[in-house]
Amino acid sequence: MTRLALLGYGKMGRLVEERARAHGFEVALRWRSAELGAARFDPAPWRGIDVAIDFSAGPSVVTTVEQLAPLGVPLVVGTTGWSGDFERVRAAILGAQGGLVYGANFSLGVQVFYRTVAAAARLLAATDYEAWAYEIHHQAKKDAPSGTLKEVVRVMSEAGFSRPVDVASNRAGAIPGTHLVGFDSDADTIRIEHIARSRVGFADGALRAARWVLGRQGFFAWQDVWEEIAAAPRHPSSDPSLEG
Ligand SMILES: NC(=O)c1ccc[n+]([C@@H]2O[C@H](COP(=O)([O-])OP(=O)(O)OC[C@H]3O[C@@H](n4cnc5c(N)ncnc54)[C@H](OP(=O)(O)O)[C@@H]3O)[C@@H](O)[C@H]2O)c1
Repeated sequence: MTRLALLGYGKMGRLVEERARAHGFEVALRWRSAELGAARFDPAPWRGIDVAIDFSAGPSVVTTVEQLAPLGVPLVVGTTGWSGDFERVRAAILGAQGGLVYGANFSLGVQVFYRTVAAAARLLAATDYEAWAYEIHHQAKKDAPSGTLKEVVRVMSEAGFSRPVDVASNRAGAIPGTHLVGFDSDADTIRIEHIARSRVGFADGALRAARWVLGRQGFFAWQDVWEEIAAAPRHPSSDPSLEG
């Protein structure tokens, strides 16, 4: 078993723990807000830790990475809200010749959704189709529109769709996350939708990234490496019935 540390033990940290064994990981250390971002760092509990997954809060990420990179612990960062510290985090990893994969959405399906929307946007760029983008999430989600919806609009623009995209958000109930892009003309409507069924896809994506980053050096964006990670063989001990 590979020894895994959890940075953040909230909804995502606990779900990663639930899924860890099926991916060949043993959770050996759990850090919560009391340890995360603390000025005084004790490296002793980190002896023997192979890799760490961070689902905590944006402000603590830079401190954690600066503390752990010199120890040679590779990291997967799923936490959002640290873009202001991006260059410091990258410098800490590259300076220590460490390894880190970061991503705001570790679901494989969302990456396929981006590619599908980009292909449609490219094909419709020179037509008179108008576009909209919509998302709905559980009522506890604070940011709106979601980072995923912002990214999908960026992807459409990058694909050459230069007309305005009308964007809307709703917050209600316990919905894990639905994103919809529509294109409309006099003749027809095209809708491309991604519906997250649970948070399991995020946890499994992070665990796959943790397996992949072991023994690698570099600062990797999930969107650049997910295809290689998805194609990698699953851990022999994984139970296919548990895979997301
Ligand atoms: N990349 C993805 O696919 C993906 C998917 C889902 C969520 N996320 C992101 O992952 C992060 C965690 O989500 P979650 O739903 O697990 O949140 P959560 O349930 O609220 O858990 C947050 C964890 O971070 C700790 N924490 C809270 N404030 C902190 C601070 N100021 N400094 C240090 N630690 C702090 C909490 O400590 P205590 O346990 O002591 O309260 C808790 O362990 C968020 O940034 C979210 O946007 C990413």
